[in-house]
Amino acid sequence: MLIDFALIGGTGLDHFALKEQRVISVKTPYGTVEATIGKDTNRELVFMSRHGQNHATPPHLVNYRGNIWALRELGVRKIIATAAVGSLSSNYRLGDLVLLDQFLDFTKSRPQTFYEGGTDGVLHVDMTDPYCAAVRQIIINASEHLGLVVKNGACYVCTEGPRFETPAEIRMFQYLGADLVGMTSVPEVVLARELGMCYASIGMVTNEAAGIADHPLSHSEVMESIKKLEIDVAQLIQATFEL
Ligand code: HPA
Repeated sequence: MLIDFALIGGTGLDHFALKEQRVISVKTPYGTVEATIGKDTNRELVFMSRHGQNHATPPHLVNYRGNIWALRELGVRKIIATAAVGSLSSNYRLGDLVLLDQFLDFTKSRPQTFYEGGTDGVLHVDMTDPYCAAVRQIIINASEHLGLVVKNGACYVCTEGPRFETPAEIRMFQYLGADLVGMTSVPEVVLARELGMCYASIGMVTNEAAGIADHPLSHSEVMESIKKLEIDVAQLIQATFEL
């Protein structure tokens, strides 16, 4: 069974309507991973929930290696991911959908590679274009088809979480050129690249970052914003798969 396309659903996207759905378990060197296989029109797709049902797994404990390995085992070559993000820039507003094109990595405790030396070997994977331009273009085409505005290109800073950032950290990230902040795109995009997969991520702007917002941040604020974007994102992904 080989399936070309997968969707990794981030915060607020823990299921995706597919026909003839079935849940499968895939054994990997990093543990057993669950995925859903189903059909969208006539094409088979894999859906994977990054945080599991009810957001049970926090960003720093996601089994990124297991998830990406399992998708490769299923034959996946192209991944679309969603990611809740806070905005650091007036160019990106609450409710915007943005395709990431660069990242800054401020994670601290996550396995970052499949290549741990010894029998695994060593790989220094190229990160000039971390997010796949070809899949991003398909998403842009789908958005134009739907009449939905999707911004193409933003620099994402990945923090370790699960806490939100301090305003001082956000000011530092702004100086460094970050546009959006989230907790999950690294190492997910890196691992996909290590296995030669084409990976794109749709940032969903759920809040202004700490210190820009005039109130303390909360997970419920993020979830409420995601709810408002859910239908647009599902349509965008469906239209992308159909192109
Ligand atoms: N910071 C980190 N991760 C996030 C944010 C944020 O402001 N919003 C959504 N995910």
